[in-house]
Parts: sequence; C-alpha cells; structure tokens
Amino acid sequence: VTTSEPSLTNITRSYETWERFRAVNPLGGIYYSRQPAFTAYGDFPTFITRAEGCRLTDVDGNTYLDFVCGYGPIILGYGHPEVQAAAARQEAKGNAATFPFEVLLELTETVVGRWPHADWAVFGKNGSDMTTLATRVARQHTGKEVILVAEGAYHGFDTWAVPFGAGVPAGHRETIQVFGWNDVESVHDAFERHRGLVAGVMLSPFRHDAGKDMEFASAEFVAAIHEGLDAEAGVLMLDDIRAGFRVHATGASHLGTGLRPDLVCYGKAMGNGHPIAALVGTDAMREAASGVYFSGTHFVAATPMAAALAVLDVYDRERVFDRIVATGERLRRGIEDAASAAGVGIRYTGPVTMPTLLFDNDPGSERLVRWTGLCARRGVIFHPRHNWFVSAAHSDADVDEAVAVAAECFELIARE
Ligand SMILES: Cc1ncc(COP(=O)(O)O)c(C=O)c1O
Repeated sequence: VTTSEPSLTNITRSYETWERFRAVNPLGGIYYSRQPAFTAYGDFPTFITRAEGCRLTDVDGNTYLDFVCGYGPIILGYGHPEVQAAAARQEAKGNAATFPFEVLLELTETVVGRWPHADWAVFGKNGSDMTTLATRVARQHTGKEVILVAEGAYHGFDTWAVPFGAGVPAGHRETIQVFGWNDVESVHDAFERHRGLVAGVMLSPFRHDAGKDMEFASAEFVAAIHEGLDAEAGVLMLDDIRAGFRVHATGASHLGTGLRPDLVCYGKAMGNGHPIAALVGTDAMREAASGVYFSGTHFVAATPMAAALAVLDVYDRERVFDRIVATGERLRRGIEDAASAAGVGIRYTGPVTMPTLLFDNDPGSERLVRWTGLCARRGVIFHPRHNWFVSAAHSDADVDEAVAVAAECFELIARE
C-alpha cells in the first residue's frame, strides 16, 4: 500500500481487509471503484464498522465526517432513530411473507397523495427497477421502442441503461438514442431522426454526470422535449432518483422549467437507507402499467415500506428540505471562500444540497482527487468523481469543521 500522505489517519487494517476482499470478489474495478479506487488508493478507508448521523467509523477506528451520504439515500442521517424504530416495529410483525402487509396500502396511498403527478404508485428496491419499469410502461403505452436520453446521463444498472458496453449484447442499445444536455437543436434532431419510433424521453431534472459542471434543464430544452413528445404521443419519464427530496420538497416537476412528467422514478432518499424505490404515474399510464411484467421477490418487503413512511413523515414535519438547503448554502459559502482565500480556482456547481466541486484547469481531476484525499486523511469525506450530498444530520458545526479541513487542504494544494 502506498499512501500519498504521511499517516494522519492510520488505515492499515482497512487495506488488509481490502486485499482479502479482492481475492474473493471479482468486481473490484467497477463496483468498488466507489470505495478506495474512487480516488488515489491509499487515501480513503475501505471498510467501515459504523455509520451514525453524519459520521462513519472505519475498521481502524478512525471517524470521518461524511458528505457522500451513501451516494444519496441518507437524507435524515445514518440510523435516524424514528425511521429505525418504525422499521423495527414492522420487522417484529414480519417483513417477507406470502401476502403483502397493510403497510403497502398505506405507503401507496401516502405516495399517491403526496405528488400531484401521481395517480398510482408501485414499489421496487433500487432506482434501476423503476427506470426499467418506466421504459417498459412507455413502450407498452405507445407501441414504440425508441427511448431518448441525454448523452452521458445515468439511469441505472439494467442492460438498456449501462454506461459501459461490456456484457451487453450487440444491438441491445439500438433502441436507446441520445441528445445533448440543454441542446435544443440536438433534441429536434433526435426526434427528427427517429420520427414515428419514439416511445418516450427519460430525463433527470439536472445534469449530474461525473466530472462535469452540473446544469439544470433549461425551460427551452424542456419545451423542445415536450414538443417532440407531443408530436410522437410519447411519454416523459422523469428520473428523480438522485434529485428527489433534494432539489424540491415535492418533486422536480415543480422546478418551474415546465416539466410535465407522465411517469416519475423515485429511490435513494425515500428510505433513508432502507431499500425502496417507487414509480408513480398519471391515469393516462395506468392501463399500460397494468399490462407489463413487474415482479421481484423482495419488492413487497414490508420493513422498508414502514421506514419510507417514517422518512416522509419526518421529512415534512421537520422541514428537512429547507434545512438541507440552508446547510448546503453554508457549505458552499465556506468552500468557495476557503478556495478563494487560498487562491485556488474552483467551480462549485449544482443544487447546494447535492453539489459538485471541480478545480479549474484540471481536466483529468488529478488536483481534485488529491484534494479530496488530503481531506479524507484529515477526517472529512468529499467525493472527487460524484456529486456530494447534504443530510439533515449535518449541523452548522459539522459544516464549519468540514470547511476548516477544506481550507487547510486548499492551502496545501496551492503550495504544491
Ligand atoms: C439519476 C439516477 N438514476 C438512476 C439511478 C439508479 O439507481 P439505483 O442505483 O438505485 O439502481 C441512479 C443511481 O445513482 C441515479 O443517480
């Protein structure tokens, strides 16, 4: 193990466990690129023993202030007591069973009552369950096959959506075609090239591709998409899996950009770490939804549903959206001021609740990787290749602690 920093943090055991793990798991390069290889190997812990509030403890006993929040699901904080208690109460009654528990009805009614564009809802486990189901419903509804997506957008793990071609049959992705983000001309072109064939558009409310500035969908871009869809009688599938609960309290269709989704995919924050995702749709989509195949052994598991009900309750009651916006703004101000004081040029883009940091003149992200590594070695986890997430468990004092570390590391970077 080579470390790029003298041991401010000792992560010896982390790397021993990592080596053991690599011997028995083939996915090191891909899945666990989310772990040590997401940065310079040697800077970040690999395995943890505890996650609580906004802090992680690793196998060497170090604690970290975490701004990745499990890649989005943790919106109230790790191990939120009320959510955990609701889950435990359901778990005591049962979870997987031959018939669904009543909590399924309660959650469905709650979700349908919550979002104006929802006349019905179904639940799965991961976001990918929902984006794949949405494409199926759109194709069934229109009798057409082509799905248009923004180039570079991530919509999940399933074969139609994967960003890398390995293991995907040649030709499988022919029905997935792209346009450029906020590029009205390319939207017109994409519809023109596939005239009469378009089942729908899958869109996130803002661009959150790794390594790029974040950008909200412009009103002109959304209008061009709706114009194309209207001509095709196609379906707008909104992928709100990452942005849901963090860019708007009641959904991205309220952002004022004119999004009128027929189907919306939710996941991540909905369960605060419990595995649950939802597809909601309008009445116009109901018949198509009733005609497609959708099944999974654990889709009706009751414990995550009870957790989700508690999450929605806490989220609304404690005005979590307003709180994470205020926290996110404090973090943005702190990081921008710290970078500027050190004379380091950065761009801090995206919603403050899930921002992305990029260094100027750093096309390969080397400086960013170095900076996040320096921060991790001082106990603060920022991600160099993915947007960060803010949760309700981050207090002002936590943010100030993180900003102090960020500032120290900007100074170090400025001197290198
Ligand atoms: C925008 C977006 N869509 C879909 C997905 C897929 O969700 P999951 O990883 O839960 O399958 C993700 C996950 O990161 C996402 O960010």
